[in-house]
Order: sequence, then structure tokens, then C-alpha cells
Amino acid sequence: MIVLVIGSGAREHALVTSLMHDPSVQQVLCAPGNAGIAEQVDCSPIEVTDPGAIAQRAVDVSADLVVIGPEVPLVAGAADAVRGAGIACFGPSALAAQLEGSKAFAKQVMIDAGVPTAQARVCLSINDVSAAMAEFGAPFVIKDDGLAAGKGVIVTSDHDEAIAHAAACFAKPDGAVVVEEYLDGPEVSLFAITDGTCVLALQPAQDFKRVGDGDVGPNTGGMGAYSPLPWAPADLIEEVTRAVLQPTVDAMRERGTPFSGLLYAGLALTSRGVRVIEFNARFGDPETQVVLARLRTPLAGVLYAAATGTLAEVGPLEWSPDAAVTVVLAAHGYPESPRSGDPIHGLAAAGNVEGVEVFHAGTKVGPDGQICSAGGRVLSVTAHGVNLQEARDRAYAALELIDLEGAHYRRDIAAESSQV
Ligand code: AMP
Ligand code: GLY
Repeated sequence: MIVLVIGSGAREHALVTSLMHDPSVQQVLCAPGNAGIAEQVDCSPIEVTDPGAIAQRAVDVSADLVVIGPEVPLVAGAADAVRGAGIACFGPSALAAQLEGSKAFAKQVMIDAGVPTAQARVCLSINDVSAAMAEFGAPFVIKDDGLAAGKGVIVTSDHDEAIAHAAACFAKPDGAVVVEEYLDGPEVSLFAITDGTCVLALQPAQDFKRVGDGDVGPNTGGMGAYSPLPWAPADLIEEVTRAVLQPTVDAMRERGTPFSGLLYAGLALTSRGVRVIEFNARFGDPETQVVLARLRTPLAGVLYAAATGTLAEVGPLEWSPDAAVTVVLAAHGYPESPRSGDPIHGLAAAGNVEGVEVFHAGTKVGPDGQICSAGGRVLSVTAHGVNLQEARDRAYAALELIDLEGAHYRRDIAAESSQV
């Protein structure tokens, strides 16, 4: 089959790499891609916010399957447009993608489906916000209702900071704010592939959202991840499938907005049990890089089955017992004001470290043919090994060989001390 991947991050680079390893795949193409993806497959520019353009590209390349990476095209209706053109698409409809696109909608679905989550109040004014903060107490969790690239949430005990964040969210057109009860406990990302009825959970991963070592500084899109989670309860996948994933997929179908694609559950393992922090409607980045590094079942067949309503026919997924670690190399100034256009050296040497794959995110080819930074998260250096220690050592050994002026990365991804 011919597969078209939409997106330009390290997640898409990992997806492209896995899809190319599937013997049922004849050709993979990507749009818009990045400099790393373009070394592997044909890439062409596209406006990812334009569902019609995505569908047209799928028709032009005779795609049998389109895999949509980021949330923005999904929320804009890209999956609907591709399916409208008669092509199988891995990704939810615009209506189903509201599970990620609106935190208020996601809360309502969770309440209807009996899925455990933080108590929350949807607020339309600063007065509502103050009242909800008084109800739940500190630490305050204040969320922008709409999409904000992982940066719409603040968790703070500072009353004024909380109010200021809420005011900034209200300043946007149709701004709304969700105030939540604070959830304590380690976070886990658990993904499920679904065709709208059947749910196939992947292996759990942990993401590092804050920019600095020891979880300090602002939230980012994600600075690193690892899998498996040696500390997680043995029945985590079963329990989350039973209490969260299957009821959510069932509720979405019963509402008339079936969810097919990748359901990402961001979970907190609290002392009172598992709680959903958020849903996303797509593969997580950087968690996908480590989850796919461990998946042995050929990926395209599974995604195609999800896209065509035949997931029940796919047997249990096979996993490597290996561990995987990914560390994100971020540009100078990320996340506040990332600098672009700096040359990147040492990519080939890093990629030659045993067990390492260097997935590109914000990269482009400069006028002189040199690969340059072109975004906040620049690379996702991913390694596998017999255990987390080996995978981690390999990823960091590769990072040492990469030279990008002013770049930074966390040194504590999957470190013994960082594992909860
Ligand atoms: P979200 O965009 O909803 O995933 O939130 C981003 C991050 O904020 C999460 O990964 C958590 O670290 C934190 N967060 C969100 N909601 C809560 C909550 N109710 N309690 C504690 N931390 C939270
Ligand atoms: N790594 C978090 C996300 O993809 O939203």
C-alpha cells in the first residue's frame, strides 16, 4: 500500500520510519515533512490547516492510507476530507477530535462515560474562575479551553499568577477557561488505536513536559520520554482499557461521533486510583518515538485496520522486551522564543551510535545544503537497549556528538531519580 503521512515533527519521522519497515507498504510519502524525513521519503509542502489540500494530495499520490500526525489538521477536519475522497484515513473526524480540541467537551464525555478524571468547572468570567479556585484550593490548575500546543495549562499556588493566566485565556476570541482539582501522582501516557469500537492499547510511556531538569520551568510540548515504566502497576493497561479507553470509545460512538484513530490518555496515577488529565486525538510527541521503537507488529496493517473498521481482526500486538529512551534537543530560547536557522553538525555520527535513531523535528535544509534548526524542538534522539540504562546511555552518547549553538536538552530523561 501507499501511505501518506501528514505532519513535520519527530513523531512523524518515527511514524514514517516504522511504516517503511512494514512489508505491506510499497511507498511512504510525507507532507510537509522536515529535512530528516526528506532523506528517507518524498516530501512536499502542504498547508496542514487546509483539509481540502490534504485530501487532494492523497488523491494525487494514489494513497491507500493517510496517517494524520498533528491535532491541528484533525480539528480542522482533514480526516473527514480524506475519507470524503474515498481514501482510508487514520485519524478522527473533526467532531471526534473535539476530545482534544475542547477540554470542556472532553470533560463532559468523561462524566457521561463514568471515566475517572479531575473535578472541573468551565468558567466564562474571572468571577467564575475565582469561585472555582476557592472551591478546589491550591495548587490551582488553570487551563485554556482550546488548543494551545501543550502550553495552555498552568499549575501554581500563586493566586495572582492563576488569575493572570485565566485573563490571558479570556482575551482570546471565544476564550474559555477550565479550572480543575489538582491531581497528585506520577503521569503516564497511554495510547490506544481504535476503529471506533475495538480498542488496542499500546505500551505506556512517560513524558517530561517541563523544560528543565528536575521538572522545573515552563511546560513544553515534551522534552523526552521512555518506555517501559518499570514502576507502573502490572495491570495498568488492562485497568485503563476497562475504566478509561473502552468506555470513552463507546460513549463517543453512542453520541454519534465515533472516534477512530489514536486515543491518547494522559493519566495521573493518584493515591485514589487512575485519573485522566487529558485526552489527545493523535499520537503523542515524543512518546511515539519510544512506543514505536518497541512495537514489533508491522504498523501500517494496524493503522489500516483502525481506519477501515476491522481492528477486531488484528491479533494482540507484539512488543520487544527492549527499553527505549528519547531525548529532545531544543533550540536556543525554547519554549519562549526559539531561535531558528542555526546549522546542526554531527547528525551522521550521532545516528551511527549503536541502537540510536535521530528523528528530526524542526529542521530544514539551508541554502548551502546544510541542515539547520527550524523550530523549537529540533531533534528527538531515540535509542533502544536491553534496559533503560543502556538505552539512556546510548541516547546521551549520541547527543554529545551533535552540535547546535545554544541548544539545550534535559539530562535526567529516564534517570533512576526521575522514574516515579
Ligand atoms: P494538559 O494540557 O491538560 O495535559 O496539562 C498539561 C500538564 O499540566 C499535565 O501534563 C500535568 O503535568 C499538568 N496538569 C494538568 N491538569 C492537572 C491537574 N488536574 N492536576 C495536576 N496537574 C495537572
Ligand atoms: N507529549 C505530549 C503531547 O504529545 O501532547
